[in-house]
Parts: sequence; structure tokens; C-alpha cells
Amino acid sequence: MEKKDAENYILAGKITKKTVEKAKKAIKPGQKLLEIALSIEKNIETLGEGKAKLAFPVNLSINENAAHFTPASDCKDILKESDVLKVDLGGHIDGFICDTAFTLNFDNKHSKMIEAAELALEEGLKIAADKAELGKIGEAIENTITSKGFKSIQNLSGHGLGQYEQHSSPSIPNIATSNPSQLEEGHAYAIEPFATDGEGYVREGSQSEIFSLDKPKPVRNMHARKLLEVIASEYGELPFALRWVEAKLKMPEFQQKIALRELMRANCIRAYPVLHEEPGKTVAQAEKSFILFDGKTTVLC
Ligand code: CO
Repeated sequence: MEKKDAENYILAGKITKKTVEKAKKAIKPGQKLLEIALSIEKNIETLGEGKAKLAFPVNLSINENAAHFTPASDCKDILKESDVLKVDLGGHIDGFICDTAFTLNFDNKHSKMIEAAELALEEGLKIAADKAELGKIGEAIENTITSKGFKSIQNLSGHGLGQYEQHSSPSIPNIATSNPSQLEEGHAYAIEPFATDGEGYVREGSQSEIFSLDKPKPVRNMHARKLLEVIASEYGELPFALRWVEAKLKMPEFQQKIALRELMRANCIRAYPVLHEEPGKTVAQAEKSFILFDGKTTVLC
């Protein structure tokens, strides 16, 4: 990592932090999820004075949904007081990403679960600063969550952050493992524990609103080709929301569906289905990004 890259990470962190602070004040029960998402996504760009771009669609996963839900353009869902809302967002500058998440619950019935995830994040960050082994970071996270009476979700993990790469290696486990690899100086990472009263394991649901470019190759269908062009030029390999492309494409909905199916079939793009715990259970998440640079740990946001 060059000094300039570190500065970009830090600036992306400052902008993301401002966005988080604003979102924490603005989000209230009764609001539409779509409005919440659009406002956060706009804030990353405006609070960053045009310097920052969205690293991925804002994830607004509720209750048993742990990750990868973003409202579609016709989503009518309204945030309820009893909902446990995970807000996972990220901004980037020249591809240097700050990925961060927090959890809100307005009737405070799940405060303990939220605290468990937040505390696990703090514990993970503490030992990550000493360039701990990956398995030990997982152990600290799992022990913290277990000691609060919840389960740590075993198949969701923290990750490295590469330039224009939201999830690069290594993956940072949320449970104890025997992985002896260590975090390295000159790299960026995100730690993201999930606490739950469910089984501690997420499964893919049927709905996908988030996609990313996978292996671009020539496709025959004209609409699929157009869609691929828009994706490659606007988002590169970063994740995007279907509602973003809809706005840019101005293609009738049925043609867009065919185009999308064609790109999926050709493995040009990949989907990120909503990841959920057992129905009726609840998930809380906390996440921060940091860089190890110049001999010290700098938490971005
Ligand atoms: Co992340």
C-alpha cells in the first residue's frame, strides 16, 4: 500500500462515517426501506463532495435476514419498531473501500444481541491490531458472542479489502479455527461479526437484488450485450443493485429480465441471494474497516 492509497482509505472512511452518523439520526420506524436506501446512497456521494462513490448497494437486511437484502425499485416494505435492521454500507475513493455496518432496533427488545455483535467487533479489532492469527480473531469473536448467550454465525466472515474488490482474501472467521495466517502490514481489512438467537448458520434465499460482474464474455442477445456494457462501464467488478441498472438502461422490464437471465446463464454475472437465518430468528451485525499501515492500525469507520 502506497501512502496515497492509505490517504484514500482514510478519506473514504471519513465520508462513510459522516454518512453513518447521518443515517443513525435519520432512520425511523414508519419509513420505507427504499427511501432509507436511496437517502444513504445519495449521502455517500454528496457528503463526499463527489469524491466518493458507492462501493456496493446499501444492504438493509431485517430480522432473520443477515445480509444482501437491498430494496428493489418497487419495494413497499416499511421499517417497523420491532424490526432488527442491519445497515451495511460502503464508500470508495479510486477503488479504496471503507465497508461498515451497524444494527438498529427501535423497541430495544434485541439490544443485548446488538451489544454482543458490537463487543465482538471491538474484541476482534483489539487483537487484529497485534496482527493476530486469523483463527484467534475468530475465537475472540465467537467467545464474546457466546458469553453473551448468542451464537456467532459460522458461515459469514470478515474479509480483506482490495482496490475495487470488496471481498478479497483472506476471509476473517467469526468462529475459532486453526488458521495460523496473520494479517499483514500494508493491507486493508473488514471485521464483521454476526450474533444470532438462531442456529448460527445462514442459507441462501430465493431473492437476489444484488449482482456483480463475474466473467465477462461475448453474448449474442442484443439486450444482454447492452446490459453487460452498462455493468462493466459503471460498476466494474463491484456489486450493483438491479434498481441502479434499471435507472441507467431505460429498457422495458421484460427485456431487462431476459438480458439478466442470459448474463446469469453465461456466468457473466453472479447473484448475491439474500442470506437468512431460521425463520422467526434474529440477527445483529457490526462491522468496521481498518488499515495496517506505517506500523499502526487505523480504523476507518
Ligand atoms: Co464487509
